Amino acid sequence: MLKIENLTVKTNGKEILRNFSISIADGEVHVIMGPNGSGKTTLSYALAGHPNYAVSGKIMLGKENITALPADGKAKKGVFLAFQNPVPVEGVGLLNFVRKARAAQGEPADKDIMKFMEESGKQAAKVKLPDAFLNRDLNVGLSGGERKKSEIMQMLALKPKLVILDEIDSGLDVDALKTVAKAIDGALDGKRMFLIITHYANILKYVKPDYVHVMLDGRIVKSGDAKFAKEIEKKGYEWMRE
Ligand SMILES: Nc1ncnc2c1ncn2[C@@H]1O[C@H](COP(=O)(O)OP(=O)(O)O)[C@@H](O)[C@H]1O
Ligand SMILES: [Mg+2]
Repeated sequence: MLKIENLTVKTNGKEILRNFSISIADGEVHVIMGPNGSGKTTLSYALAGHPNYAVSGKIMLGKENITALPADGKAKKGVFLAFQNPVPVEGVGLLNFVRKARAAQGEPADKDIMKFMEESGKQAAKVKLPDAFLNRDLNVGLSGGERKKSEIMQMLALKPKLVILDEIDSGLDVDALKTVAKAIDGALDGKRMFLIITHYANILKYVKPDYVHVMLDGRIVKSGDAKFAKEIEKKGYEWMRE
């Protein structure tokens, strides 16, 4: 399970999260909603080990304290973050990136390349990303929707324990949303934990959350179930402020 206790996160000398706590049991899907600037992306970065975010408090993944691990250390322990705005990386092909990342996870270097390509093709197909994209540089020249699909393809390939999706549904058209959401739902295996950050209840038609939390000014102010997401969509956040 994931247990975050009293997480305080600072960047550029500014405290953005203060005493943030949440527990996610194996197999659970938690959703975080909240207005712009409430600290959702900061939370994702802190969990993924972004070097510009100073973290105190405790992040336990299973029995391991991963609080102080850098980004690659957290990734090796099974933390995966799909970025709100995936950036283009010139010179790094998607397939090569995935292969290197899997090698870093401990996959033997002599793993059959044809088998790897076949698996990657299947993972890309799950998000309807044509094979040609596997050989293109990461996010270079990709539309917003294609970048989000690429993030999910990487998630399927890396098989993380904890999946953090920062606004994976923003910028997706209705068909792409359905495709991506179904791929996420297909990745639920009763063990893998999901933290889904979103503004919309739409994605929850396909991925059933166990809990929906609202984040305001760096902390959770209210939690509920799937129905709560619908209520938030209708009523907004301001009424929860007092
Ligand atoms: N690098 C940074 N330097 C200064 N302020 C930042 C930085 N990153 C985020 N913030 C501030 O922290 C707050 C939370 O931002 P963010 O985590 O991106 O919110 P959300 O994802 O919920 O929209 C905002 O007020 C934002 O301006
Ligand atoms: Mg954000």
